[in-house]
Amino acid sequence: MTQTENVPMTKETPFVPIEKIVSLAKRRGFVYPNSEIYGGVSGIYDFGPLGVELRNNIRRYWWWSMVQLNDNIVGIEGAIITHPRVWEASGHVENFVDRLVDCKNCKRRFRIDHLPEENLLQNRCPNCGGELMEPRKFNLMMETYIGVVEGERMKTYLRGEACQNIYLDYDNVLKSSRMQIPFGICQIGKAFRNEVTPGNFLFRQREFEQWDLQFFVHPSEMQKWFDYWKERRFEWYRGIITHKDRLRLRAHGPEELAHYAKQAFDIEYQSILGWQEWEGIHWRQDWDLSRHSQFSGQDLSYTDTVTKERFIPWIVETSGGVDRTFLNLLLDAYEEEPGEDGKEGRTVLHLNPMLAPVKVAVLPLQKNKEELVSTAKDIYNRLKRLMVAQYDDVANIGRRYRRQDEIGTPYCVTVDFDTLQDSTVTVRERDTMSQIRLPISELPAYLLERVIWH
Ligand code: GAP
Repeated sequence: MTQTENVPMTKETPFVPIEKIVSLAKRRGFVYPNSEIYGGVSGIYDFGPLGVELRNNIRRYWWWSMVQLNDNIVGIEGAIITHPRVWEASGHVENFVDRLVDCKNCKRRFRIDHLPEENLLQNRCPNCGGELMEPRKFNLMMETYIGVVEGERMKTYLRGEACQNIYLDYDNVLKSSRMQIPFGICQIGKAFRNEVTPGNFLFRQREFEQWDLQFFVHPSEMQKWFDYWKERRFEWYRGIITHKDRLRLRAHGPEELAHYAKQAFDIEYQSILGWQEWEGIHWRQDWDLSRHSQFSGQDLSYTDTVTKERFIPWIVETSGGVDRTFLNLLLDAYEEEPGEDGKEGRTVLHLNPMLAPVKVAVLPLQKNKEELVSTAKDIYNRLKRLMVAQYDDVANIGRRYRRQDEIGTPYCVTVDFDTLQDSTVTVRERDTMSQIRLPISELPAYLLERVIWH
Protein backbone atom coordinates (compact mmCIF):
# COMPACT_ATOMS: atom_id res chain seq x y z
CA MET A 1 0.00 0.00 0.00
CA THR A 2 1.22 3.51 -0.78
CA GLN A 3 1.60 5.93 2.09
CA THR A 4 2.24 9.15 0.23
CA GLU A 5 4.14 12.08 1.66
CA ASN A 6 2.92 15.66 1.53
CA VAL A 7 2.79 16.53 -2.18
CA PRO A 8 3.69 20.15 -3.00
CA MET A 9 1.23 22.11 -5.11
CA THR A 10 2.40 22.19 -8.72
CA LYS A 11 1.34 24.15 -11.76
CA GLU A 12 -0.01 20.98 -13.33
CA THR A 13 -2.16 20.10 -10.34
CA PRO A 14 -3.36 23.33 -8.69
CA PHE A 15 -5.79 22.96 -5.81
CA VAL A 16 -9.17 24.43 -6.62
CA PRO A 17 -10.32 27.22 -4.26
CA ILE A 18 -13.32 26.12 -2.22
CA GLU A 19 -15.28 29.21 -3.36
CA LYS A 20 -15.30 27.89 -6.93
CA ILE A 21 -16.86 24.63 -5.77
CA VAL A 22 -19.44 26.47 -3.64
CA SER A 23 -20.35 28.67 -6.59
CA LEU A 24 -20.63 25.83 -9.12
CA ALA A 25 -22.55 23.71 -6.61
CA LYS A 26 -25.20 26.38 -6.16
CA ARG A 27 -25.33 27.56 -9.79
CA ARG A 28 -25.76 24.09 -11.22
CA GLY A 29 -28.03 22.63 -8.53
CA PHE A 30 -25.71 20.42 -6.50
CA VAL A 31 -25.85 22.11 -3.06
CA TYR A 32 -27.83 25.01 -1.62
CA PRO A 33 -27.45 26.75 1.76
CA ASN A 34 -30.23 25.53 4.07
CA SER A 35 -33.07 28.04 4.84
CA GLU A 36 -31.35 30.59 2.63
CA ILE A 37 -34.37 32.92 2.42
CA TYR A 38 -34.17 33.31 6.23
CA GLY A 39 -30.46 34.00 6.20
CA GLY A 40 -29.32 30.36 6.38
CA VAL A 41 -28.16 28.12 9.23
CA SER A 42 -24.43 27.72 9.63
CA GLY A 43 -23.20 24.19 8.98
CA ILE A 44 -26.42 22.85 7.40
CA TYR A 45 -27.00 22.35 3.65
CA ASP A 46 -29.61 21.07 1.20
CA PHE A 47 -28.90 19.08 -1.95
CA GLY A 48 -30.37 20.10 -5.32
CA PRO A 49 -31.41 18.02 -8.36
CA LEU A 50 -27.87 17.11 -9.41
CA GLY A 51 -26.60 16.88 -5.84
CA VAL A 52 -29.14 14.26 -4.90
CA GLU A 53 -28.18 12.13 -7.92
CA LEU A 54 -24.47 12.34 -7.07
CA ARG A 55 -25.18 11.62 -3.41
CA ASN A 56 -27.34 8.60 -4.23
CA ASN A 57 -24.64 7.24 -6.54
CA ILE A 58 -21.97 7.68 -3.85
CA ARG A 59 -24.14 5.90 -1.29
CA ARG A 60 -25.15 3.08 -3.63
CA TYR A 61 -21.59 2.47 -4.74
CA TRP A 62 -20.41 2.19 -1.11
CA TRP A 63 -23.31 -0.14 -0.27
CA TRP A 64 -22.65 -2.27 -3.36
CA SER A 65 -18.96 -2.69 -2.57
CA MET A 66 -19.36 -3.19 1.18
CA VAL A 67 -22.63 -5.11 1.63
CA GLN A 68 -23.51 -6.68 -1.71
CA LEU A 69 -20.03 -7.97 -2.54
CA ASN A 70 -19.10 -9.32 0.91
CA ASP A 71 -20.88 -12.48 2.01
CA ASN A 72 -19.92 -11.86 5.65
CA ILE A 73 -21.43 -8.35 5.81
CA VAL A 74 -25.08 -7.32 6.19
CA GLY A 75 -26.75 -3.91 6.37
CA ILE A 76 -29.16 -2.19 8.74
CA GLU A 77 -30.85 1.20 8.93
CA GLY A 78 -31.28 2.46 12.47
CA ALA A 79 -33.27 5.38 13.87
CA ILE A 80 -31.74 8.79 14.49
CA ILE A 81 -33.20 8.93 18.01
CA THR A 82 -32.32 6.28 20.56
CA HIS A 83 -32.70 5.80 24.31
CA PRO A 84 -30.65 8.47 26.17
CA ARG A 85 -28.75 5.78 28.11
CA VAL A 86 -27.09 4.82 24.81
CA TRP A 87 -25.09 8.04 24.91
CA GLU A 88 -24.05 7.58 28.50
CA ALA A 89 -22.86 4.06 27.71
CA SER A 90 -21.07 5.19 24.55
CA GLY A 91 -19.14 7.83 26.52
CA HIS A 92 -20.48 10.71 24.42
CA VAL A 93 -22.27 12.51 27.25
CA GLU A 94 -19.04 12.62 29.21
CA ASN A 95 -16.33 12.76 26.58
CA PHE A 96 -17.69 14.14 23.30
CA VAL A 97 -16.39 17.65 23.85
CA ASP A 98 -14.45 20.34 22.04
CA ARG A 99 -12.15 22.57 24.08
CA LEU A 100 -12.43 26.18 22.96
CA VAL A 101 -10.75 29.48 23.69
CA ASP A 102 -12.01 33.01 23.05
CA CYS A 103 -9.81 36.01 22.28
CA LYS A 104 -10.22 38.80 24.84
CA ASN A 105 -9.57 41.40 22.16
CA CYS A 106 -11.26 40.43 18.85
CA LYS A 107 -13.70 37.94 20.47
CA ARG A 108 -12.93 35.25 17.84
CA ARG A 109 -13.34 31.66 19.05
CA PHE A 110 -10.94 28.79 18.29
CA ARG A 111 -10.81 25.06 18.90
CA ILE A 112 -7.72 24.33 20.99
CA ASP A 113 -6.75 21.44 18.74
CA HIS A 114 -6.85 23.77 15.69
CA LEU A 115 -4.59 26.48 17.20
CA PRO A 116 -1.06 26.77 15.78
CA GLU A 117 1.46 25.55 18.36
CA GLU A 118 3.16 28.93 18.83
CA ASN A 119 -0.18 30.63 19.60
CA LEU A 120 -0.98 27.89 22.08
CA LEU A 121 2.39 28.30 23.82
CA GLN A 122 2.21 32.11 23.95
CA ASN A 123 -1.55 32.16 24.68
CA ARG A 124 -1.99 34.59 21.78
CA CYS A 125 -4.84 34.91 19.26
CA PRO A 126 -3.83 33.83 15.72
CA ASN A 127 -6.13 36.53 14.31
CA CYS A 128 -5.12 39.71 16.19
CA GLY A 129 -2.37 38.68 18.62
CA GLY A 130 -4.64 39.46 21.61
CA GLU A 131 -4.61 37.49 24.85
CA LEU A 132 -6.67 34.27 24.93
CA MET A 133 -9.10 33.46 27.75
CA GLU A 134 -9.17 30.24 29.81
CA PRO A 135 -10.22 27.24 27.65
CA ARG A 136 -13.81 25.99 28.06
CA LYS A 137 -15.39 22.63 27.25
CA PHE A 138 -18.47 22.29 25.00
CA ASN A 139 -20.38 19.04 24.48
CA LEU A 140 -21.21 18.41 20.82
CA MET A 141 -24.35 16.30 21.32
CA MET A 142 -27.60 17.82 19.98
CA GLU A 143 -30.38 17.57 22.51
CA THR A 144 -33.99 16.82 21.74
CA TYR A 145 -37.10 15.79 23.71
CA ILE A 146 -39.51 12.89 23.35
CA GLY A 147 -43.11 13.51 24.47
CA VAL A 148 -45.28 16.61 24.74
CA VAL A 149 -46.32 16.90 28.37
CA GLU A 150 -44.08 19.13 30.46
CA GLY A 151 -42.52 17.09 33.26
CA GLU A 152 -43.01 13.79 31.38
CA ARG A 153 -40.82 14.69 28.46
CA MET A 154 -37.64 12.65 28.13
CA LYS A 155 -34.46 14.41 27.13
CA THR A 156 -32.42 12.51 24.58
CA TYR A 157 -30.04 13.23 21.71
CA LEU A 158 -29.94 13.16 17.94
CA ARG A 159 -27.25 10.58 17.34
CA GLY A 160 -23.75 12.01 17.48
CA GLU A 161 -22.33 9.08 15.55
CA ALA A 162 -24.46 6.84 13.39
CA CYS A 163 -22.66 3.63 14.34
CA GLN A 164 -24.30 3.26 17.78
CA ASN A 165 -27.36 1.60 16.20
CA ILE A 166 -25.08 -1.17 14.97
CA TYR A 167 -24.04 -2.11 18.52
CA LEU A 168 -27.67 -1.87 19.65
CA ASP A 169 -28.82 -4.18 16.83
CA TYR A 170 -25.79 -6.48 16.91
CA ASP A 171 -27.52 -9.17 18.97
CA ASN A 172 -30.71 -9.00 16.87
CA VAL A 173 -28.67 -9.36 13.68
CA LEU A 174 -26.87 -12.39 15.12
CA LYS A 175 -30.15 -14.04 16.10
CA SER A 176 -32.06 -13.18 12.91
CA SER A 177 -29.38 -13.87 10.30
CA ARG A 178 -26.84 -16.65 9.93
CA MET A 179 -23.81 -14.50 10.61
CA GLN A 180 -20.88 -15.89 12.57
CA ILE A 181 -17.77 -14.14 13.74
CA PRO A 182 -15.90 -12.71 11.87
CA PHE A 183 -18.70 -10.70 10.29
CA GLY A 184 -19.68 -7.08 9.72
CA ILE A 185 -22.69 -4.78 9.88
CA CYS A 186 -22.92 -1.70 7.67
CA GLN A 187 -25.10 1.36 7.85
CA ILE A 188 -25.44 4.73 6.14
CA GLY A 189 -27.18 7.43 8.13
CA LYS A 190 -27.36 10.95 9.42
CA ALA A 191 -25.40 12.17 12.42
CA PHE A 192 -25.67 15.48 14.28
CA ARG A 193 -23.02 17.46 16.09
CA ASN A 194 -23.16 20.91 17.57
CA GLU A 195 -19.83 21.74 15.92
CA VAL A 196 -18.65 25.00 17.45
CA THR A 197 -16.65 25.89 14.39
CA PRO A 198 -18.55 24.49 11.38
CA GLY A 199 -17.09 25.53 8.05
CA ASN A 200 -15.34 24.87 4.79
CA PHE A 201 -18.63 24.16 3.06
CA LEU A 202 -19.58 20.48 3.47
CA PHE A 203 -16.39 19.61 5.31
CA ARG A 204 -17.53 20.31 8.85
CA GLN A 205 -21.31 20.44 9.22
CA ARG A 206 -23.78 20.13 12.05
CA GLU A 207 -26.01 17.67 10.20
CA PHE A 208 -24.16 15.22 8.00
CA GLU A 209 -24.20 11.62 6.86
CA GLN A 210 -21.82 8.83 7.80
CA TRP A 211 -21.16 5.35 6.47
CA ASP A 212 -19.91 2.78 8.89
CA LEU A 213 -18.70 -0.75 8.85
CA GLN A 214 -18.44 -2.38 12.29
CA PHE A 215 -16.56 -5.64 11.87
CA PHE A 216 -16.82 -8.09 14.79
CA VAL A 217 -13.83 -10.37 15.36
CA HIS A 218 -12.21 -12.72 17.85
CA PRO A 219 -9.60 -10.71 19.87
CA SER A 220 -6.78 -12.92 18.55
CA GLU A 221 -7.62 -11.84 14.98
CA MET A 222 -7.96 -8.12 15.64
CA GLN A 223 -4.64 -7.05 14.08
CA LYS A 224 -5.25 -9.09 10.94
CA TRP A 225 -8.68 -7.57 10.30
CA PHE A 226 -7.59 -4.05 11.27
CA ASP A 227 -4.83 -4.23 8.63
CA TYR A 228 -7.17 -5.83 6.12
CA TRP A 229 -9.84 -3.10 6.34
CA LYS A 230 -7.29 -0.29 6.46
CA GLU A 231 -5.92 -1.49 3.15
CA ARG A 232 -9.31 -2.23 1.54
CA ARG A 233 -10.76 1.16 2.41
CA PHE A 234 -7.65 3.00 1.23
CA GLU A 235 -7.87 1.22 -2.15
CA TRP A 236 -11.60 1.96 -2.36
CA TYR A 237 -10.97 5.70 -2.12
CA ARG A 238 -8.05 5.49 -4.54
CA GLY A 239 -10.42 3.89 -7.03
CA ILE A 240 -12.82 6.86 -7.14
CA ILE A 241 -10.40 9.78 -7.47
CA THR A 242 -8.28 11.15 -10.30
CA HIS A 243 -5.40 12.59 -8.25
CA LYS A 244 -4.13 9.36 -6.66
CA ASP A 245 -1.17 11.20 -5.06
CA ARG A 246 -3.57 13.25 -2.93
CA LEU A 247 -4.51 10.31 -0.72
CA ARG A 248 -2.57 9.04 2.29
CA LEU A 249 -2.96 7.06 5.50
CA ARG A 250 -1.92 8.69 8.75
CA ALA A 251 -1.68 7.09 12.18
CA HIS A 252 -3.22 9.01 15.10
CA GLY A 253 -0.90 10.14 17.86
CA PRO A 254 -1.92 9.10 21.42
CA GLU A 255 -3.31 12.57 22.20
CA GLU A 256 -5.61 12.48 19.14
CA LEU A 257 -7.33 9.18 19.85
CA ALA A 258 -11.09 9.29 20.42
CA HIS A 259 -12.25 7.98 23.81
CA TYR A 260 -13.32 4.63 22.28
CA ALA A 261 -10.20 3.97 20.17
CA LYS A 262 -7.01 2.15 21.15
CA GLN A 263 -5.47 2.78 17.71
CA ALA A 264 -6.63 4.75 14.69
CA PHE A 265 -5.64 5.67 11.16
CA ASP A 266 -7.13 8.42 9.04
CA ILE A 267 -7.45 8.13 5.30
CA GLU A 268 -6.68 11.72 4.32
CA TYR A 269 -7.21 13.72 1.14
CA GLN A 270 -5.09 16.73 0.21
CA SER A 271 -6.85 19.80 -1.17
CA ILE A 272 -6.84 23.56 -0.70
CA LEU A 273 -7.82 22.71 2.92
CA GLY A 274 -4.52 20.84 3.42
CA TRP A 275 -4.41 17.16 4.40
CA GLN A 276 -7.78 16.39 5.99
CA GLU A 277 -9.53 13.31 7.33
CA TRP A 278 -11.84 11.54 4.90
CA GLU A 279 -12.43 8.29 6.77
CA GLY A 280 -11.29 6.90 10.13
CA ILE A 281 -10.22 3.29 10.72
CA HIS A 282 -10.65 2.68 14.44
CA TRP A 283 -9.52 -0.15 16.72
CA ARG A 284 -12.58 0.01 19.04
CA GLN A 285 -11.73 -3.28 20.71
CA ASP A 286 -14.50 -4.36 23.16
CA TRP A 287 -15.35 -0.80 24.27
CA ASP A 288 -18.83 -0.63 22.74
CA LEU A 289 -20.25 -4.08 23.45
CA SER A 290 -18.79 -4.15 26.98
CA ARG A 291 -20.21 -0.73 27.81
CA HIS A 292 -23.65 -1.54 26.38
CA SER A 293 -23.64 -4.86 28.26
CA GLN A 294 -22.76 -3.02 31.45
CA PHE A 295 -25.30 -0.17 31.04
CA SER A 296 -28.21 -2.26 29.72
CA GLY A 297 -27.67 -5.37 31.85
CA GLN A 298 -27.93 -7.53 28.68
CA ASP A 299 -25.22 -10.08 27.98
CA LEU A 300 -23.75 -9.20 24.57
CA SER A 301 -21.05 -11.87 24.57
CA TYR A 302 -20.70 -14.36 21.73
CA THR A 303 -20.32 -18.14 21.90
CA ASP A 304 -18.18 -19.78 19.25
CA THR A 305 -20.25 -22.57 17.69
CA VAL A 306 -17.26 -24.91 17.33
CA THR A 307 -15.01 -24.22 20.34
CA LYS A 308 -17.86 -23.04 22.64
CA GLU A 309 -15.57 -20.24 23.78
CA ARG A 310 -17.52 -17.25 25.14
CA PHE A 311 -16.14 -13.76 24.58
CA ILE A 312 -17.04 -10.12 23.87
CA PRO A 313 -16.18 -9.58 20.20
CA TRP A 314 -13.68 -6.88 19.33
CA ILE A 315 -14.56 -4.32 16.70
CA VAL A 316 -12.77 -2.81 13.70
CA GLU A 317 -14.60 0.31 12.58
CA THR A 318 -14.30 2.05 9.21
CA SER A 319 -16.25 5.30 9.44
CA GLY A 320 -16.43 7.86 6.64
CA GLY A 321 -18.61 10.72 5.50
CA VAL A 322 -20.99 10.85 2.56
CA ASP A 323 -20.71 14.65 2.56
CA ARG A 324 -16.93 14.65 2.74
CA THR A 325 -16.88 12.18 -0.14
CA PHE A 326 -19.20 14.49 -2.07
CA LEU A 327 -16.95 17.49 -1.40
CA ASN A 328 -13.66 15.68 -2.03
CA LEU A 329 -14.95 14.26 -5.31
CA LEU A 330 -15.86 17.76 -6.51
CA LEU A 331 -12.47 19.15 -5.38
CA ASP A 332 -10.72 16.25 -7.09
CA ALA A 333 -12.74 16.45 -10.32
CA TYR A 334 -12.86 20.21 -10.96
CA GLU A 335 -10.66 21.62 -13.69
CA GLU A 336 -10.62 24.85 -15.68
CA GLU A 337 -9.12 24.00 -19.04
CA PRO A 338 -7.82 26.91 -21.10
CA GLY A 339 -9.01 26.99 -24.73
CA GLU A 340 -6.50 26.18 -27.45
CA ASP A 341 -5.86 28.17 -30.65
CA GLY A 342 -8.07 31.08 -29.56
CA LYS A 343 -10.97 28.76 -28.72
CA GLU A 344 -13.09 29.19 -25.58
CA GLY A 345 -11.89 27.20 -22.53
CA ARG A 346 -14.12 25.03 -20.42
CA THR A 347 -14.80 24.05 -16.82
CA VAL A 348 -15.02 20.30 -16.51
CA LEU A 349 -15.79 17.88 -13.69
CA HIS A 350 -13.75 14.72 -14.30
CA LEU A 351 -16.09 12.67 -12.12
CA ASN A 352 -15.82 8.90 -12.30
CA PRO A 353 -18.59 7.99 -14.85
CA MET A 354 -20.20 5.54 -12.44
CA LEU A 355 -20.70 8.32 -9.88
CA ALA A 356 -21.54 11.21 -12.25
CA PRO A 357 -25.07 12.54 -11.63
CA VAL A 358 -26.06 12.53 -15.31
CA LYS A 359 -24.68 9.72 -17.47
CA VAL A 360 -25.65 10.92 -20.93
CA ALA A 361 -27.06 14.00 -22.64
CA VAL A 362 -28.94 13.69 -25.92
CA LEU A 363 -28.65 16.73 -28.18
CA PRO A 364 -30.26 17.39 -31.57
CA LEU A 365 -27.83 19.39 -33.71
CA GLN A 366 -30.54 21.97 -34.43
CA LYS A 367 -33.70 22.80 -32.55
CA ASN A 368 -35.74 23.96 -35.53
CA LYS A 369 -35.53 20.71 -37.55
CA GLU A 370 -38.47 18.56 -36.54
CA GLU A 371 -36.90 15.25 -37.60
CA LEU A 372 -33.72 15.89 -35.61
CA VAL A 373 -35.73 16.80 -32.52
CA SER A 374 -38.09 13.81 -32.72
CA THR A 375 -35.24 11.33 -33.29
CA ALA A 376 -33.26 12.81 -30.38
CA LYS A 377 -36.32 12.68 -28.08
CA ASP A 378 -36.93 9.08 -29.08
CA ILE A 379 -33.33 8.13 -28.17
CA TYR A 380 -33.57 10.12 -24.92
CA ASN A 381 -36.84 8.42 -23.93
CA ARG A 382 -35.26 5.00 -24.40
CA LEU A 383 -32.01 5.84 -22.57
CA LYS A 384 -33.66 7.46 -19.55
CA ARG A 385 -35.18 4.10 -18.60
CA LEU A 386 -31.65 2.72 -18.20
CA MET A 387 -29.67 5.60 -16.70
CA VAL A 388 -30.03 9.26 -15.71
CA ALA A 389 -30.18 11.16 -19.02
CA GLN A 390 -30.86 14.74 -20.07
CA TYR A 391 -32.32 16.15 -23.27
CA ASP A 392 -31.07 19.60 -24.28
CA ASP A 393 -31.79 21.62 -27.41
CA VAL A 394 -31.11 25.14 -26.09
CA ALA A 395 -28.13 27.09 -27.55
CA ASN A 396 -25.46 26.02 -30.03
CA ILE A 397 -23.92 22.56 -29.75
CA GLY A 398 -20.59 23.83 -28.36
CA ARG A 399 -22.33 25.62 -25.52
CA ARG A 400 -24.41 22.55 -24.75
CA TYR A 401 -21.25 20.40 -24.56
CA ARG A 402 -19.76 22.94 -22.11
CA ARG A 403 -22.87 22.81 -19.95
CA GLN A 404 -22.58 19.04 -19.68
CA ASP A 405 -18.81 19.17 -19.06
CA GLU A 406 -19.41 21.49 -16.12
CA ILE A 407 -21.68 18.97 -14.39
CA GLY A 408 -19.48 15.99 -15.23
CA THR A 409 -21.70 14.20 -17.78
CA PRO A 410 -19.38 11.56 -19.27
CA TYR A 411 -21.14 11.18 -22.65
CA CYS A 412 -23.03 13.41 -25.09
CA VAL A 413 -24.98 11.89 -27.98
CA THR A 414 -25.56 14.21 -30.93
CA VAL A 415 -28.25 13.63 -33.53
CA ASP A 416 -27.34 15.25 -36.85
CA PHE A 417 -28.37 15.07 -40.50
CA ASP A 418 -26.38 11.86 -41.09
CA THR A 419 -28.45 10.22 -38.34
CA LEU A 420 -31.53 10.63 -40.49
CA GLN A 421 -29.79 8.80 -43.36
CA ASP A 422 -27.91 5.95 -41.62
CA SER A 423 -29.28 5.75 -38.02
CA THR A 424 -25.91 6.53 -36.47
CA VAL A 425 -25.10 9.19 -33.86
CA THR A 426 -22.00 10.99 -32.60
CA VAL A 427 -20.89 9.99 -29.11
CA ARG A 428 -18.59 12.54 -27.48
CA GLU A 429 -16.49 11.59 -24.46
CA ARG A 430 -16.12 14.29 -21.77
CA ASP A 431 -12.45 14.09 -20.75
CA THR A 432 -10.77 13.64 -24.14
CA MET A 433 -13.55 15.36 -26.14
CA SER A 434 -13.01 12.60 -28.72
CA GLN A 435 -15.96 11.61 -30.87
CA ILE A 436 -17.00 8.34 -32.45
CA ARG A 437 -19.88 7.34 -34.69
CA LEU A 438 -22.15 4.58 -33.40
CA PRO A 439 -25.39 2.90 -34.63
CA ILE A 440 -28.33 3.95 -32.42
CA SER A 441 -29.03 0.28 -31.70
CA GLU A 442 -25.60 -0.10 -30.06
CA LEU A 443 -25.93 2.96 -27.79
CA PRO A 444 -27.49 1.32 -24.69
CA ALA A 445 -24.87 -1.43 -24.41
CA TYR A 446 -21.99 0.97 -25.19
CA LEU A 447 -23.06 3.44 -22.49
CA LEU A 448 -24.10 0.91 -19.84
CA GLU A 449 -20.75 -0.83 -20.04
CA ARG A 450 -19.05 2.46 -19.21
CA VAL A 451 -21.33 3.97 -16.57
CA ILE A 452 -22.45 1.15 -14.29
CA TRP A 453 -20.15 -0.09 -11.52
CA HIS A 454 -18.44 -3.41 -11.97
N1 GAP B 1 -18.08 6.39 14.62
C1 GAP B 1 -16.83 7.01 14.49
C2 GAP B 1 -16.90 8.41 14.12
O1 GAP B 1 -17.96 9.03 14.13
P1 GAP B 1 -15.47 10.41 13.27
O2 GAP B 1 -14.02 10.44 12.85
O3 GAP B 1 -15.92 11.40 14.29
O4 GAP B 1 -15.72 8.94 13.76
C3 GAP B 1 -16.27 9.67 10.91
O5 GAP B 1 -16.38 10.56 12.00
C4 GAP B 1 -16.38 10.42 9.60
O6 GAP B 1 -17.57 11.22 9.57
C5 GAP B 1 -15.23 11.40 9.34
O7 GAP B 1 -14.12 10.74 8.78
C6 GAP B 1 -15.87 12.37 8.35
O8 GAP B 1 -15.82 11.85 7.04
C7 GAP B 1 -17.32 12.40 8.82
N2 GAP B 1 -17.56 13.57 9.68
C8 GAP B 1 -17.30 13.68 10.99
N3 GAP B 1 -17.68 14.88 11.47
C9 GAP B 1 -18.21 15.55 10.41
C10 GAP B 1 -18.79 16.85 10.25
N4 GAP B 1 -18.94 17.69 11.28
N5 GAP B 1 -19.22 17.21 9.02
C11 GAP B 1 -19.11 16.38 7.96
N6 GAP B 1 -18.59 15.14 8.06
C12 GAP B 1 -18.13 14.72 9.26
